[in-house]
Amino acid sequence: MALKITRPLGTEDITPKNINKWYTVEHIARETAECFGFKEIRIPTFENTDLFLRSVGETTDVVQKEMYSVKAKETEFTLRPEGTAGTIRAMLQNGMLNDALPQKVFYILSCFRHERPQAGRLREFHQFGLEMAGASDPSADAEVICLAKTLLDRLGLKNIALNINSIGCPKCRSEYHKALRAYFAKHEEKLCDTCKSRLEKNPMRILDCKSPICAGIAKDAPVILDYLCVECSDHFQSLKNKLNAMNIEFTVNPKIVRGLDYYTKTVFEFVTTDIGAQGTVCGGGRYDGLIEQLGGNPTPALGFAMGIERLLLTMESQNCDFMENQTCDLYIAPMDAAASDKALALAQAVRSDGCIAELDVMNRGIKAQMKYANKIGAKFVLVLGENELQSGEANLKRMDTGEQIPVNIGSEFNSAFLEQLNNYRLDSVINALEEEK
Ligand code: HAM
Repeated sequence: MALKITRPLGTEDITPKNINKWYTVEHIARETAECFGFKEIRIPTFENTDLFLRSVGETTDVVQKEMYSVKAKETEFTLRPEGTAGTIRAMLQNGMLNDALPQKVFYILSCFRHERPQAGRLREFHQFGLEMAGASDPSADAEVICLAKTLLDRLGLKNIALNINSIGCPKCRSEYHKALRAYFAKHEEKLCDTCKSRLEKNPMRILDCKSPICAGIAKDAPVILDYLCVECSDHFQSLKNKLNAMNIEFTVNPKIVRGLDYYTKTVFEFVTTDIGAQGTVCGGGRYDGLIEQLGGNPTPALGFAMGIERLLLTMESQNCDFMENQTCDLYIAPMDAAASDKALALAQAVRSDGCIAELDVMNRGIKAQMKYANKIGAKFVLVLGENELQSGEANLKRMDTGEQIPVNIGSEFNSAFLEQLNNYRLDSVINALEEEK
């Protein structure tokens, strides 16, 4: 027998059994983003590798260790490790920044990072994210954080802590880099090879190295908040005032530096302790230099992304509600070839009214058909045989009560079925209300 091929390590299949969970997050995320005025953007799965070198940054773990790149016909491409770089590239390429500012877009996409897989950390994962370009005022930071918080609340999530920090601008960063270099130089021997090379080029990257030794050394490193220039410091204070005014609880965590190079000023993360070590469900911040770095006019911008797998893990661990999977309204069980023709026509009539109709396509006996109808959770079953075809009368069986409802399978069939289905839905609502009492 041929060897079975399995999916690559760090990837997951999303099967129909749990697609309702994904629909729940995607639906609520879309609705929330739209009610803040964001519109959807869809971008390519791969980009020119240079895009990520120039945005995410050459000294980041993502670029140095985690990118999936291929050379095809002399050009190097990379599967997107995140959505911000591609989104900004698309905004520039489509002239969106010449339109009314701020531009506000959201995306739902897959990302690829060659990391060591563990719970909540995959090699292919999905993000819901958004970007706002053109606004430098701290009210934009407050609005974006408020959107993330609103979405987490609407998903029914509890105990998610918001941590914020400011990592300044290139102006304050130069003093800070000096202090960091002086600090890490004292520990240079013990740093990992990657961090040794970061010491000169970009010492801030040492602060989020995943090696436990580097992390231990980084614990006592100087913090950026002590080096902010007046403009960055005022921006941060104003954001904190706004969050307080909106009653959004937060903690200032001067250790947050984020793993991507483009950030300036505000950075933030929403974190849960309910899903183990990979508890950051949302990460984001401001990146006022990126658009210019990618060839546009200087334009401030900011955004965030949430890991959908991590959101789902947290929702499951907190028993949050999910939308139900759609199930079959009517299953038609024909007993012979003539009835099968009729079943095809009746199913189409019912579908044209927006109901889900299925019928036997396996030429199975009636017992096997009833078993199948039960398994797929059909609400009603209609058995069709010679008698039914001749008389034009059939029985609609309501599966939850076993009740048999006579229906005309001629031209009135459709309306009779819909009436029964609506009664059924009414019953379910009444039952649900009774249970709530
Ligand atoms: P990030 O922090 O690298 O930021 O990723 C955002 C979120 O994606 C994380 O908080 C986490 O929930 C999820 N995530 C990241 N890596 C993995 C993984 N290997 N497996 C599962 N989930 C993961 C960004 O990507 C920025 N582009 C966010 C942003 C948008 N900043 C401004 N705008």
